[in-house]
Amino acid sequence: MSWALVTGGAGFIGTNLADRLLAEGQRVRVLDNLSRPGVERNLEWLRERHRDRLEVMIGDLCEPAVAAGAVRGVESVFHLAAQVAVTTSLEDPVLDFDVNLVGTLNVLEAARRQARPPAVIFTSTNKVYGGLEDVELEDTGRRYEPLAESIRRRGISEQRPLDFCTPYGCSKGAADQYVLDYAKSYGLRTAVFRMSCIYGPHQCGNEDQGWVAHFALRALEGEPITLYGDGRQVRDVLFVDDLVDAFLLLRENVDSLGGRAYNIGGGPGNAVSLLEVIERIGELGSEPAVEFGPWRQGDQRYYVTDTRQFGRDTGWRPRVSAEEGIERLYSWLRDRSVGGRVARAATAA
Ligand SMILES: NC(=O)c1ccc[n+]([C@@H]2O[C@H](COP(=O)([O-])OP(=O)(O)OC[C@H]3O[C@@H](n4cnc5c(N)ncnc54)[C@H](O)[C@@H]3O)[C@@H](O)[C@H]2O)c1
Repeated sequence: MSWALVTGGAGFIGTNLADRLLAEGQRVRVLDNLSRPGVERNLEWLRERHRDRLEVMIGDLCEPAVAAGAVRGVESVFHLAAQVAVTTSLEDPVLDFDVNLVGTLNVLEAARRQARPPAVIFTSTNKVYGGLEDVELEDTGRRYEPLAESIRRRGISEQRPLDFCTPYGCSKGAADQYVLDYAKSYGLRTAVFRMSCIYGPHQCGNEDQGWVAHFALRALEGEPITLYGDGRQVRDVLFVDDLVDAFLLLRENVDSLGGRAYNIGGGPGNAVSLLEVIERIGELGSEPAVEFGPWRQGDQRYYVTDTRQFGRDTGWRPRVSAEEGIERLYSWLRDRSVGGRVARAATAA
């Protein structure tokens, strides 16, 4: 039976990935330091469902010995643990650097030192392409749209030059480059997903990261939502089950696709503005009040993924529409509300 390590496995994406791997009969080691509030509930949920094949390590990847212990004996590593918020990276760039860059280097070194190095799959971000200020946009009232027909139809591809901005963009971008270089310099089987906005069950969304879940929670709590900017910024949202499919395909094909970075997101068919997501949440039951704040540093007005390269290489395509996925997330959160109130710490239950 094969062993997989999921770093950050108590987090939103890690929990969904670990659950799928375990359900398929694989053994999974989860390494997490539980620094994200609420994720301990995800771990309880995983433990209840998969007692036998799940091994849990609580530890910090910034310590090389922890990374070495976590990687020992596994065939594949899904490296998800991270400082995940641009806002926090601006407040504490040193912490962000340590977790995202030093932590990743510790994972790579631990992998390289194994007698049989595991495949390493890394979760990078669309932020490596910077603010995309040169993409000319028109304001259609509810959302921004690119003037260039090619970007409107296809989105942003891997050909886009890297342009790191904000400490989070720099630390994730540098880690992304190290992961790719370990394929070149040391022959490791590594690959990178540069991910757009992912959403779904087990997301402990808050104002700093995980905005679709955060909006739905605020609506269920009857609390107002603060939109930073005008709410017309556009993202292509990807339901987490589709991302997990992509992870499994990437790992299955890592011998031939190793050393590559792919852009992954919902694609032009699942591009939504923040205002449109709020509208959709309103249709599902609770119309949230909206307040506006200043634009946030590094916030792209428009980011939509061109997913065609990964589709061509593996046959993958997203299956869950934004409309359906938001309803699934909303119902999941509502079912966990207690007396009409959704305790944030309980959202992962
Ligand atoms: N969710 C998204 O939309 C999105 C988009 C682009 C990229 N990503 C990347 O995907 C990955 C997973 O994101 P997520 O949304 O599941 O976030 P998450 O915060 O839910 O999960 C991250 C997990 O890592 C753990 N962690 C943090 N620092 C650690 C450390 N030093 N050692 C061990 N564990 C540590 C946290 O406790 C948490 O459980 C991250 O690398 C993130 O940068 C996410």
